[in-house]
Amino acid sequence: MPSIISIVKASLLVLPALASASGTLGVALGIHKVNDQTCKTTEDFIADLKTIKKETGSTVVRIYTTSQCKAIASLAPALKATGSKAIVGLWPTGTDTIFMEETDAIVDALKSYADQILGVTVGSEHLYRKELTGEQLSKMIETVQKRTKEVAPNVPVGFADSWNKIQDGTADPAVAQSDLVLANAFSYWQGQEINNGTHSFVDDIMQALQHVQTIKKKTNVNFWVGETNWPTGGKDFEKAIPNVTNAARYWKEAICGILAWGVDTFVFEAFDEPWKPAEKNNDVERHWGIMDINGKPKFDLKCPNV
Ligand SMILES: *[C@@H]1O[C@H](CO)[C@@H](O)[C@H](O)[C@H]1NC(C)=O
Ligand SMILES: *[C@@H]1O[C@H](CO)[C@@H](O)[C@H](O)[C@H]1NC(C)=O
Repeated sequence: MPSIISIVKASLLVLPALASASGTLGVALGIHKVNDQTCKTTEDFIADLKTIKKETGSTVVRIYTTSQCKAIASLAPALKATGSKAIVGLWPTGTDTIFMEETDAIVDALKSYADQILGVTVGSEHLYRKELTGEQLSKMIETVQKRTKEVAPNVPVGFADSWNKIQDGTADPAVAQSDLVLANAFSYWQGQEINNGTHSFVDDIMQALQHVQTIKKKTNVNFWVGETNWPTGGKDFEKAIPNVTNAARYWKEAICGILAWGVDTFVFEAFDEPWKPAEKNNDVERHWGIMDINGKPKFDLKCPNV
């Protein structure tokens, strides 16, 4: 992949683990059951975690709320039972009390399950959706850090947002406050043809990582790809065509590729969620699973070099 090399040289960016091991693969996991959309129980999560490990080798998942569905209270014992870990998201906006409830739920889980929690993120693409400013997000991260560090001083707290909101400086106050940053990037939503999918993805992520390194004034930063993948159904988006062939190729080239370069990466998402609504006449949101609703892989989910 000569394009990656030229990007790295041009930016003097330092990859996190070039000399050491591959990056860690993580998988975003929904909290609702496929059949009736009720809340998953600890047993449901155990079954999911076993399937994810069997099909991908991954033992790391990501969720987006702690209090809805009592998600972290149900997930944490499942993580422990299966030897898995999670980066746990707090949903900080909505009702007046949600931020407090979300914070209370993670603090509670950390009291018993700190070893299972790889990190805590405040918000998901809240800057991208303009629901928070960088300053507001920074204050919320600080508030959560004060609470979590009392019970689990070593668990990093940060945020997750779209790569371009990290690259363009919108997130700077939040980056400065964070112990951990997750950057999302989807070549499908960049409207890229599959032939350019890996180039576009790596370019976007490297720009975000380089900006984080600049703000942090160090190269050794706790940085993950927060979400990426290629959908297997839905409508074409500009030059991006969603189908299984292209998703399989994106997996091998973009996802396995960036893992081999040492970048920790979450794939969005473990299983299809067929109840999700179509937006602008496009039901693509139902087709992001690397596995179908029965936990069957849509294509080979092993990475040859990882
Ligand atoms: C491929 O992606 C790069 C990086 O995002 C972009 O600069 C370039 O224009 C894209 N090429 C094509 C043919 O779309
Ligand atoms: C998926 O789309 C690509 C073009 O991007 C095409 O070459 C390929 O045949 C398609 N695969 C399927 C299964 O439709």
